[in-house]
Amino acid sequence: MDFLDRERLAPLYARELALFHARIPKSLAAREIARGFMPDGVPMSWMSAFFSHPPVFVDAGEGSIFRDVDGNAFIDFNLADLSNTVGYGNTAVAKALVDCATRGIQYLQPSMDAIAVSAALAARTQMPFWQYTGTASAANIEAIRIARAYTRREKVVLFTGKYHGHIDTTLAKGGGPESNEPARPSSMGVSARATADTVNVAFNDLDQLKAALDKGDVALVLIEPALTNCSLVLPDAGFLEGAYEMTRAAGALFALDETHTLQMAYGGLIGERGLEADILTLGKGFGAGVPLGAYGLTPELARFIDKHQDGDTVPEPGIALGGTTYANALSLAGARAMLDEVATSDAHSRIAKLGARLADGLDGIIARHGLPWRAFRYGPRSGFCLSPTFPRTYGEAIRSVHADFYNLRHTYLANRGIWDAIVSAGPQVSFAHTEQDVDRYIEVCSELMDEIAAA
Ligand SMILES: Cc1ncc(COP(=O)(O)O)c(C=O)c1O
Repeated sequence: MDFLDRERLAPLYARELALFHARIPKSLAAREIARGFMPDGVPMSWMSAFFSHPPVFVDAGEGSIFRDVDGNAFIDFNLADLSNTVGYGNTAVAKALVDCATRGIQYLQPSMDAIAVSAALAARTQMPFWQYTGTASAANIEAIRIARAYTRREKVVLFTGKYHGHIDTTLAKGGGPESNEPARPSSMGVSARATADTVNVAFNDLDQLKAALDKGDVALVLIEPALTNCSLVLPDAGFLEGAYEMTRAAGALFALDETHTLQMAYGGLIGERGLEADILTLGKGFGAGVPLGAYGLTPELARFIDKHQDGDTVPEPGIALGGTTYANALSLAGARAMLDEVATSDAHSRIAKLGARLADGLDGIIARHGLPWRAFRYGPRSGFCLSPTFPRTYGEAIRSVHADFYNLRHTYLANRGIWDAIVSAGPQVSFAHTEQDVDRYIEVCSELMDEIAAA
């Protein structure tokens, strides 16, 4: 029988799920009330869709730990899918947010923090000009719109296995450069017209990218510098540099989406490796858990959007950018505290060491069980890679996204005080984690793997 055989995992999962239900009576009762007001009893569908067990209603958190209304404590390795890398109750961030909130949260005029945040992002990433949105998805929407306006072309090239948010253009599958069929919607409710201008090519494959660009109709190549939403795929040496050169030569724009990778390295991959891009989109953790997205621009693109502003007092229609609550004072105050006082270069080095400790621990468990696996490792991120070699493509990466193993693992770990990452990601340490937190994750995982082996 295979180590992850369903027959082995199913009885353990049934036992753990029953235990989980028994541990969360108040959450279950709250959800029943909530079902009267919200679909599935949650304010945002991911909160129940991400996990096979019921959601817990949260009470409060401190450091790396949050507690539910039943009093269960969880060391958090999901970090709200990297939107809460700061941890819980950070005093510098809390002070900045309270100071701001007592003076005023939202003006629809710039605050001084906008200058400080832009300067900090520019220093880390070398992208000189910045705009802010409410989310990373919104930053990607604006990146696509700017590229279409600038190049006067329509097509957007994406990489299979990507995730850029719930944006119609990017919710597309198929439609590779060799295909005669256009890309089609990958989810319900997206119109076929919205995905017809999307081209999906394989990650780490410059030949496919060239074939897509050779048609001369591409506005934007939008890429996560590492695929982080189908386990983890790191770029081959020279791939991102080659993709940038090729894109520029084809008259298209090149956008890096570092929504996740900015949480994994100081300045993201663009800062760490000195990459080049026309647009850099960000979101999640750099806003200290307060909704915030951003995009960096070259001077040329900054001038372009300056020239083509759109608004009630502007005579000619320009590019529609912005939103009423984007760049509000509160989110920029949080981001300033986050960048200046939490996500410093030293702090990134510290969490990278913790990430390596986590990966070493998982590698130890894998070796002890003689499994043909290894641990993912990139800065603070790790997790089980269910093959002996690291993936280079989506097809290879998706093999590590194993639903039965994941459902058991999340439930088993939750019953022992660990909140694991969502299935498409891997455990990641926040700025609030300690060595003890990491060791506890390894210890509980080790117990789980022993139980699976004995089943
Ligand atoms: C690489 C990447 N870009 C964009 C997004 C969208 O982020 P948000 O849902 O915060 O808009 C995500 C979310 O997982 C992401 O992983």
